[in-house]
Amino acid sequence: MKKAADAVVELDGMGLSLIEISHRSKEFVSIMETARSLTLDLLGLEDKGYQVLFLQGGASLQFLMVAYNLLENKGGYLNTGTWSSKAIKEANLLGQTEVIASSEDKGFNYIPKGYDIPKDLDYFHITSNNTIFGTQLWEFPETSVPLVCDMSSDIFSRQLDFSKFDLIYAGAQKNMGPAGATLVVIKESILGKVSRKIPSMLDYSVHLGKGSMFNTPPVFAVYTSMLTLQWLVNQGGIPSIEEINERKAKLLYSEIDLNPLFKGYAAKEDRSFMNATFTLTDDKLKDTFDAMWKDAGINGLNGHRSVGGYRASMYNALTLDSVGVLVDVMSDLERKA
Ligand SMILES: Cc1ncc(COP(=O)(O)O)c(C=O)c1O
Repeated sequence: MKKAADAVVELDGMGLSLIEISHRSKEFVSIMETARSLTLDLLGLEDKGYQVLFLQGGASLQFLMVAYNLLENKGGYLNTGTWSSKAIKEANLLGQTEVIASSEDKGFNYIPKGYDIPKDLDYFHITSNNTIFGTQLWEFPETSVPLVCDMSSDIFSRQLDFSKFDLIYAGAQKNMGPAGATLVVIKESILGKVSRKIPSMLDYSVHLGKGSMFNTPPVFAVYTSMLTLQWLVNQGGIPSIEEINERKAKLLYSEIDLNPLFKGYAAKEDRSFMNATFTLTDDKLKDTFDAMWKDAGINGLNGHRSVGGYRASMYNALTLDSVGVLVDVMSDLERKA
């Protein structure tokens, strides 16, 4: 944060701000290239045919771009929540989609399993972490069709074989930097297979051809994402952050399970390590609990309006100590009730 703030005043002793230099300057070109190559390094995807883009329009624009660039006959979707549903809606504007499996029947509180993925799909789209409902995929489907994954809310949080995915996208604002940049990691070989004309700004090939500089990139969001990626490398990369994320999640879920005043929303085996969703078992305690966590300095614990209850988001930047503060408040409530 401090480094990003300093760069807004002056970038690396240049006498100019990060947000006033040209994005074509050698300084910014180097920032973009560093952010792109750190992404591949951290994901273990160097020299495997992948390219990295930092685009605008959020993950929501990727719902549409994926279909624009990949959907010829039929796109398959795993519907695990609000964001998957929105991705399906956008793809339906351009062609045929099939929901291969869905957890809508139980309020999206679990991850569907045991489904077959038809071989005639142009791609299969999944959402690795369901930010609102607090579920996460722990096993990924084996498929012969290109696998597309919305990793907006868990990218860089855990070790995975990222080469299983053909296209990964993620809004920067959870585990990377400020809103405004959207990371797209794409295996180039899946492109160029649709017959439609693609508007330049929506065409991955156009952006790739220009090194993610087809138009002015969101310089502050890219710079800040680069700083976060460097920070992650200095922490020991994804294996180290994964260990901390696991400790944070286990600490909170064990309190949710042991404390009779709380109940988890998501099916245990599908619980998210990034977003823990839970409710009070007795609504009468709501005012007391709300006052207690606010007093403890906790922010933003209210659940999404479509689920209610509480949601503790434990992205990479959140410390184990912070989770400890919440767990203490929860056990204090049990003592007082
Ligand atoms: C999993 C997931 N996908 C997509 C989005 C939408 O992202 P954006 O607001 O960048 O369009 C979000 C936002 O929270 C998300 O959590």
